[in-house]
Amino acid sequence: MSYTNILSDSSNGITTITINRPNKLNALNKATIQELHDALDEANADDNTKVVIITGSGDKAFVAGADISEFADFGVEKGGKLAAKGQKILFDFVENLSTPVIAAVNGFALGGGLELAMACHFRVASDNAKMGLPEVSLGVIPGYGGTQRLPQLVGKGRAMEMVMTAGMIDANQALQYGLVNHVTTQDELLPLAEKIASKIMRNSSVAIKGAIKSINANYKDGVDGFKTEIKQFGKCFGTEDFKEGTSAFLEKRKANFPGK
Ligand code: COA
Repeated sequence: MSYTNILSDSSNGITTITINRPNKLNALNKATIQELHDALDEANADDNTKVVIITGSGDKAFVAGADISEFADFGVEKGGKLAAKGQKILFDFVENLSTPVIAAVNGFALGGGLELAMACHFRVASDNAKMGLPEVSLGVIPGYGGTQRLPQLVGKGRAMEMVMTAGMIDANQALQYGLVNHVTTQDELLPLAEKIASKIMRNSSVAIKGAIKSINANYKDGVDGFKTEIKQFGKCFGTEDFKEGTSAFLEKRKANFPGK
């Protein structure tokens, strides 16, 4: 598929999706949100893609937020619909994707940009990155899951302060908060994400799918995560990957998972 606002490249088991509106600091307009959905859907359906990395083009921004010019004249109903649709087709979609998604935060990740990074399964950042949810400075609140995922990642008090002050934190503060897992230089950011991806790829993709579902269950209202884990654990025993993984261990060789 060809895209206008993003680039999608696949090699060695990794699909790298680059949000490509550098003149607008990669702000998420409606078209970009739809293209991200389509590219993620395509990568997830591709058996050769084992890990997805999302990053921003240029050296300044991952994503500087939702495109403010698109919603400046919205009323109550349109505002609610904007959040509902975005959450459904992108933010919840990324979080629940069965293929691991790493956010490589290469600069500003503000508003919808930080919300996108937080919806990814985990994050790495370059040392110039700045993160925040500045929505209240515009008279709105985070609408793409930010009020829910930020406290999950950094704790309620820090999330309250970040949202209320509309302030930004730098990469090292984000590391200290647990918002990102690793910080490196901008040049080393994608190589680092790829190195982590290659570690993930050695493992069973079907088991990883079950693990993502089980971990996410911990954060879903009305869902018993322990029950989800038991079900997913049991399902693993019916997979070819389980047979290969256990046989390889007992035969003292490296597993070669079929991914089934
Ligand atoms: N929506 C739409 N356009 C955006 C944008 C956004 N969220 N963030 C940046 N842009 C655009 C700017 O309007 C500017 O476009 P122009 O050159 O056509 O005027 C371009 O991207 C470059 O941004 P600029 O503000 O000139 O860069 P800067 O280095 O001076 O400042 C930021 C960088 C990130 C501090 C600043 O762009 C900013 O505050 N952006 C909005 C962040 C935000 O509130 N996001 C949450 C949205 S809900």
